Amino acid sequence: MKAAVYYENGGPEVLRYEDVPDPACHPKGVIIRVEAIAIEGGDTLNRFGGPLVTKPHIVGYQAAGEIIEVGAEVTHLKVGQKVATVNNFGSHAALRSVPARNCWPVPEGYDIAKASAIPVTFGTAHDCLFEYGRMKAGEIVLVQAGASGVGVAAIQLARRAGAKMILATASSDERLERLKPLGMTAGINYRVNEVPREVRRLTDNHGADVVVDSVGGSTLQGSINSLAYRGRVSMVGAAGREPMVVDVGSMMGGNRGLSGVFLGAEIMTDRVHDMIQGLIDDAARGELEVVIDRTFPLSEAAAAHAYIESRAAVGRVVLVP
Ligand SMILES: NC(=O)c1ccc[n+]([C@@H]2O[C@H](COP(=O)([O-])OP(=O)(O)OC[C@H]3O[C@@H](n4cnc5c(N)ncnc54)[C@H](OP(=O)(O)O)[C@@H]3O)[C@@H](O)[C@H]2O)c1
Repeated sequence: MKAAVYYENGGPEVLRYEDVPDPACHPKGVIIRVEAIAIEGGDTLNRFGGPLVTKPHIVGYQAAGEIIEVGAEVTHLKVGQKVATVNNFGSHAALRSVPARNCWPVPEGYDIAKASAIPVTFGTAHDCLFEYGRMKAGEIVLVQAGASGVGVAAIQLARRAGAKMILATASSDERLERLKPLGMTAGINYRVNEVPREVRRLTDNHGADVVVDSVGGSTLQGSINSLAYRGRVSMVGAAGREPMVVDVGSMMGGNRGLSGVFLGAEIMTDRVHDMIQGLIDDAARGELEVVIDRTFPLSEAAAAHAYIESRAAVGRVVLVP
């Protein structure tokens, strides 16, 4: 099969489009013919510095397509079914071997590219807001990196849950402008404004009740400093590629909370599995919008990764084999 592979970590240029052996079907898994690959922020981070557990390595968490083979022990999935899938690696390929547990049926007629972008992206945003952030209707939410895949999902889920105000940060006014139709109340361009000060100004000094922070590094302290009394930060990523250094003393006075969030640790549980299926079904009914910024052929995976790293994309970038 064709795949986008690399032999060493590095920039987008390490990706090559090559022939590799077809994957084998595990008794508890399926093989899908990949139709769309939603590139996760974690895919670019893994390409940059993650372990090469196979060589050449095929990176990638999320892909959707049609099942072409079903493992001997799998009873609930069948050949011909369209599914969205997640695995620790292997999305950037024409075929994918994946545990049956990590497959979610895609409702008839729903856009397969959009479906490919839901499990990790929306599932993570959902856990950040509700499972760990304990967000309630009427609260104020701050989404750091609002134009990221996780950010675009978090803004919509917070709106749907009745947030009183949704603030988001981004590196340009143009990127913030694109978040308004999704439910963002006000945007903060962090290149020209100090985030905690702007959050206080925009919220009448209340602060944010819940912050979704997928950037980490120096941004994380700004998230903590933006919190309201009893506010909670869900720390979910390291897009900023900086060391995570925070002053934990700043948590105490305001009875503030900081939770780490890792969807992968619970993706096999019934709770998360059902939550993701619910999000796919909601999106197929038109209740959530999966924003796809641009689509590239799989053979141009290096260009797609470079485009993401140029910080031009809003939402997801998709590869098509
Ligand atoms: N723990 C989990 O379960 C989990 C699940 C999903 C994702 N994640 C993590 O969450 C993070 C975001 O994922 P994503 O898929 O939403 O990412 P994405 O769509 O690629 O977006 C990342 C955004 O981060 C912002 N950013 C800030 N500093 C950056 C820098 N130095 N380099 C590049 N971008 C920077 C950029 O927006 P601006 O230019 O507007 O700042 C960029 O659009 C990643 O670290 C990912 O690994 C974790």
